[in-house]
This record gives sequence, C-alpha cells and structure tokens, in this order.
Amino acid sequence: MSGGGPTAAPFDPVREREIRRWHDSGQAWDRWADSMADPADRLNRPLLAALALQPHHVLLDLASGAGEPAITAAKSMGPAQGSEGGRVLASDLVPAMLAGARRRGAGIDALSFLAADMTALPLGSASVDRISCRFGLMFVPDALGAAAEMRRVLRPGGIAALLCWGPQADNTLFRLLDDVLGGVPELAALFRFAEEGTLGRLFLDAGFSGVSETSLEQSVLADAAKPFWRPTLDMAFTPALARLPAQDRATLEDRITAAVAHETGADGKMPVHLHARLLVAHK
Ligand SMILES: C[S@@+](CC[C@H](N)C(=O)[O-])C[C@H]1O[C@@H](n2cnc3c(N)ncnc32)[C@H](O)[C@@H]1O
Repeated sequence: MSGGGPTAAPFDPVREREIRRWHDSGQAWDRWADSMADPADRLNRPLLAALALQPHHVLLDLASGAGEPAITAAKSMGPAQGSEGGRVLASDLVPAMLAGARRRGAGIDALSFLAADMTALPLGSASVDRISCRFGLMFVPDALGAAAEMRRVLRPGGIAALLCWGPQADNTLFRLLDDVLGGVPELAALFRFAEEGTLGRLFLDAGFSGVSETSLEQSVLADAAKPFWRPTLDMAFTPALARLPAQDRATLEDRITAAVAHETGADGKMPVHLHARLLVAHK
C-alpha cells in the first residue's frame, strides 16, 4: 500500500498548524535519523518487546516520522518471514516527515507507507494485529479519537504500544535547550501525557483492556566536547529556531555550550537523562 495525501478532514486550525510544523521539520528529522540510530534503538527495544510481534503479524506504526520504530520492526521480520505475510505499515499525517522513512526504508520488502491522520485511518476495522506509536499521540488534538481509532482497526486480541514523554524536568536535553531558548511554547505538547496515569486513563476510556503504563528511564554520559545536543535542537525546536533573529542564532550555540559546561563533571561528561512513558493496551 502506498499513501497519497493525508485523509480529507474538515479544516481545523490546530491540525493545520501541526501539519505546517512537521512539514517544516521533515528535512531535519531525515538528516539526523541515521546518526540517531543508537538512541532510537534503546527506545525501540522495550516498545517492540511489548508488542510480542509474530512473523505473520501486520504492524501499523502511527506517526512514523522518519521511520521509527517501523523500519526496525520491518527489518526484524526479514524477507523470508515477510513473504509469509508479515508486514509493517509506516504511517504519518505529514508526507514530508514520511520522506525520511521512505528513503531509509527503501528495499525493505515487509515495509510500506501510508500518509494518514491517526484519528481517521483509511483502513478496515479489525485489519491489523499490532499498533506502535513512538512520540506521536501528544500532537493529536483529539487523542481520545485516535485511541478509539486504534481500537477499531486492531483485530480482537491485538495490542497497541506507545511511547510518550515523561516530565520535562526528567528529560535533560529538552529542559536545557528550552531554558537556553527562554521557553518555547510548542514544547508543551511533548509533555501532554507526562503526568502518571493520564495515558492509561485515555486508553481505558477508549475501551481497551489490559492497560498498563510504565516509566522508562535511561541515562547516558555525553561527551561535553561534542555537540551531542544538536540533533535534538534541530528536530524538536525547528519552529523556535525559525523565529530566532539572525544575530541571536549566531550566539545560541555558544550559550548552549556554556549551559552544558555548567552541568559537566571533571571527567568532561554530562549526565543526560531521559524519561518516557510506555503504554500497552489490549483489544
Ligand atoms: C516527534 S515525531 C515522531 C516520529 C517517530 N515516531 C520517532 O519517534 O522518531 C511526531 C510525528 O507525529 C506526526 N503526527 C502529528 N499529528 C499526527 C496525526 N494526527 N496523525 C498521524 N501523525 C501525526 C508528525 O507528522 C510527526 O511526524
């Protein structure tokens, strides 16, 4: 299956703003996706493990962006298993974001693409076995509608697994970059499900059972001599960077470097913490 434009929907200014934002971010996500493969994999592993994928399963990945976890899942299905019927459908509201997934996933037989709004999927009821969604649901105004749509397209016994960000204070890079930029309004959406229990309640309200919500926390020691923060700056702060006057852009990196130095130990390493919420729900 290959996608055309996003599913037709009535004009909605919030949705239109989201489309514009992700359209403008698409190139940065594509540019960084390959070099971010390791951190991406650390997040994909628990997400995909929760899905207990079988070789014959159809996995729908929502809000795939530049292709994760869809590409990792499709690779694990392998050509032989893919030919038995297992496949992965990478979907996203914004074709410009999916461009990176198409480039990175070229040649993977089990992978196909679909441009679609997760609140109105052009898929039959009970047509997929598993659903994944990594850091996408927070951006959907009608999140309950999206969860209900997930339940509709899942087969009985199917599983949905999602990752959303935990509190901003527990996510070092978002916290530090937001501080340096003086508070970025668009960032608030990332932490919409940060409060424990909100995701779980949403999926119960949408009619799912066997709902569990767990914290996923990881820490790494980053080499402060390298601009390890640049991918996050480029990908998550695209609208803020676009608004920044040229003279401020020139000094932004210096201010980030100074903020990093402030949190760096004598060994030259800065602790970088990440906190996400893993939601698993059964139909
Ligand atoms: C932070 S990116 C996540 C990309 C990828 N899953 C990852 O973890 O690297 C969020 C994605 O959500 C998509 N998105 C926003 N609203 C959506 C909607 N209503 N339906 C489907 N995708 C949506 C955006 O286009 C964007 O690609």
